[in-house]
Amino acid sequence: MFTEKEILCELKISRTTLWRLKKKGLPCIKIGSSYRYNKSDVLDWIANNQQDKYLIDYFDTQQTSENLELQFSYQPTDSTISFNGYKKIKHSYKITIPYLLKHNEEHLNKLFTTHELNEFQQMLSGFNGKIQDDEAVRIFSNAYITILKKRHQTEHAEYDSKLDKFLTTTNNNLKIIWGDCFKALKKMKSESIHLMVTSPPYYNAREYSQWENLHAYLDDMRIIIRESYRVLDNHRVWVFNIGDVFDNDNLKTKSVWGKRRLPLGAYFIKIFEEEGFEFVDDIIWDKGEVESQRHKNSGINYPFYQYPVNCYEHILIFHKHRLDTNRIPCPICGSLNVNGNTQSEIGVQSWECKNDKCLERSPHNRGKRFSLRSNMMQDASKRISENYIDEFTIAKWRRDIVKFPPVIKIDKNGNNRVGHSAPFPKDIPEMAIKYFSYAGEKVLDPFAGSFTTAIVAKKLGRIGIGIEINKQMFESVIKKRISEEFNGEIELEEFTL
Ligand SMILES: C[S@@+](CC[C@H](N)C(=O)[O-])C[C@H]1O[C@@H](n2cnc3c(N)ncnc32)[C@H](O)[C@@H]1O
Ligand SMILES: [Zn+2]
Repeated sequence: MFTEKEILCELKISRTTLWRLKKKGLPCIKIGSSYRYNKSDVLDWIANNQQDKYLIDYFDTQQTSENLELQFSYQPTDSTISFNGYKKIKHSYKITIPYLLKHNEEHLNKLFTTHELNEFQQMLSGFNGKIQDDEAVRIFSNAYITILKKRHQTEHAEYDSKLDKFLTTTNNNLKIIWGDCFKALKKMKSESIHLMVTSPPYYNAREYSQWENLHAYLDDMRIIIRESYRVLDNHRVWVFNIGDVFDNDNLKTKSVWGKRRLPLGAYFIKIFEEEGFEFVDDIIWDKGEVESQRHKNSGINYPFYQYPVNCYEHILIFHKHRLDTNRIPCPICGSLNVNGNTQSEIGVQSWECKNDKCLERSPHNRGKRFSLRSNMMQDASKRISENYIDEFTIAKWRRDIVKFPPVIKIDKNGNNRVGHSAPFPKDIPEMAIKYFSYAGEKVLDPFAGSFTTAIVAKKLGRIGIGIEINKQMFESVIKKRISEEFNGEIELEEFTL
């Protein structure tokens, strides 16, 4: 059996041909998210569908010319060549960075300022014609998107260059900012973080996290969420763990007896949506048996004495989709000759390639359709082992109720192992990081606590960043933990606001 890529290569047919046959019922086997084909089946189907004109082309990128114009010209020749008895029209071209600069010249002049264009050309100046096709398109597109991002980042001019340097210098990839996360976020560049994973302070649940009333708490959280939206990269994710609490909201009820279930999860969803995020999922973390004795009601087994108990928490998943209508290059041919399409989702601008020499067209003969989000998700260079999600993780998080134990804080001697903190188990950041980030990217926890998120991020080959306000309580806890987790080989990089 052959993978899609292998069969295209083996039989020298175009992807469109394969798609057309598949649409008509060509047998194939689905393994994970990819398909496998039997060579003789495909050959039979080609033979039986010869009238289909899409069957008679294939791409030969070997045959190239040094002349830029010729390099990208479609050259159907009269002399058809024979392959396994079928006739094929041959055409040849290659995509290089010099070609893409020339092909897109008009659009680039229109879209970029002179300064931006200079910077863009500078970024690409080191690449000659040797880099071709997919790789050339990727390098060109990444540079192009970097320029657009820089433009967006200048809209928030308040960022602190020292902090930025701290965050962008890659040393140990385990970084903490000591201070208030609202202030820290304010000083960070827009769209400079790839994933956020956190568990915020729960309203009045600890002696160090006390607010006058529920509104004051939610107001504080709201401005942090607003700033986080700006700092999180576009089309990226925030995984937010929160439990409901039993407490006095100090609004409706004021007496010490006025405790009620405060559905913090529900309140947060509303705030996140109002601040621009899209609510995508609510995974229930089943914590199993709980420590609390509250529900036992001193053994009064009669109506109205039975209270529910808090044995689950929410793992909320939010997406950021900031609508950006700047055109982006086609991921197949690198052309900026693209038209805006209807938005696939609110906030996700979709495009259709209009370059008639593009290598990919739909079975309905439409140009390649794509968005910033689909380009990111389908980037073949990211399909590497470091980003592969193991079967165990997939199976564990298959359902949206997932059971694993909370962190037990008291050791066998009765001592609190992680200070007075409320750490979440590694399971949460592990899932979040594997599901929603690529190796080498920046993962931020603005309420770092004992630094669980950053440690897991580092272990998974990402850059782990935390912000923690309470240095006194957490400094030694964090350093001890890092030394244990990394056998004393890695040091924490610190920045104080
Ligand atoms: C629920 S704990 C996070 C626990 C963490 N996930 C862990 O595994 O240890 C919340 C943390 O947020 C910190 N915190 C509260 N307000 C903060 C703020 N404004 N800026 C930064 N950290 C803050 C608290 O000190 C506490 O450590
Ligand atoms: Zn294209």
